[in-house]
Amino acid sequence: MTHETTQQCAYATARLVVGDWHRMSHRYGLDLIDAICSVLTRITTAALPPEWQGDFDDQRAKRWVEARDAESPTMLVVTRDDSKAVGLLILFESASQQDPDRIDVRLGYVLAESAWGKGLASELVQGLVDWASAEPSIRSISGGVARDNDASARVLLNNGFKPSGDATNEAETYEIILGHHH
Ligand SMILES: CC(C)(COP(=O)(O)OP(=O)(O)OC[C@H]1O[C@@H](n2cnc3c(N)ncnc32)[C@H](O)[C@@H]1OP(=O)(O)O)[C@@H](O)C(=O)NCCC(=O)NCCS
Repeated sequence: MTHETTQQCAYATARLVVGDWHRMSHRYGLDLIDAICSVLTRITTAALPPEWQGDFDDQRAKRWVEARDAESPTMLVVTRDDSKAVGLLILFESASQQDPDRIDVRLGYVLAESAWGKGLASELVQGLVDWASAEPSIRSISGGVARDNDASARVLLNNGFKPSGDATNEAETYEIILGHHH
């Protein structure tokens, strides 16, 4: 899997700058391992898959960076006004079953606890939808949300995602099909 399109993902919103985590940490003089340890904590990872849960020390963060890099692009989310790392955005692309010439993008996101409740996740995903809408090769974006994660469901619903029908007892998948009006 090459992830050619999502590797190029970079955008800014009113309060956030988003791009490949290696390029971003270099550009803002941030230590990526420190950034991960500050974002991924017992509390912020509680709703994430079991292998991501708990606190991260340097060792675990380093292994996690290697594992992510082997799998798919990861974006660092930095605040525009004070250049602080406040979140991670993971994008996983695959050939679309409905339209083999295009890709479907699966997303995941997590913000540092200190950044919660300010509309930043909604803004982050809005920026992603705007960026993806200008990429003709992207057909859709989707994300799986645990049933008890109301805040994350709100983030996707706020941005035009709809339940896709792909649901289990534990999670619901939300999806947005991009129009690409030219
Ligand atoms: C989910 C998460 C990204 C939301 O970030 P955020 O920046 O606080 O979200 P926003 O401020 O954009 O809020 C989105 C909506 O959720 C609501 N909300 C926020 N916290 C909430 C909570 N604990 N319970 C219910 N609703 C909540 C907000 O009021 C807002 O509602 P509105 O759009 O109707 O006004 C953040 O809490 C997080 O990183 N959680 C841990 C990781 C995670 O769950 N990732 C998603 C996995 S699918």
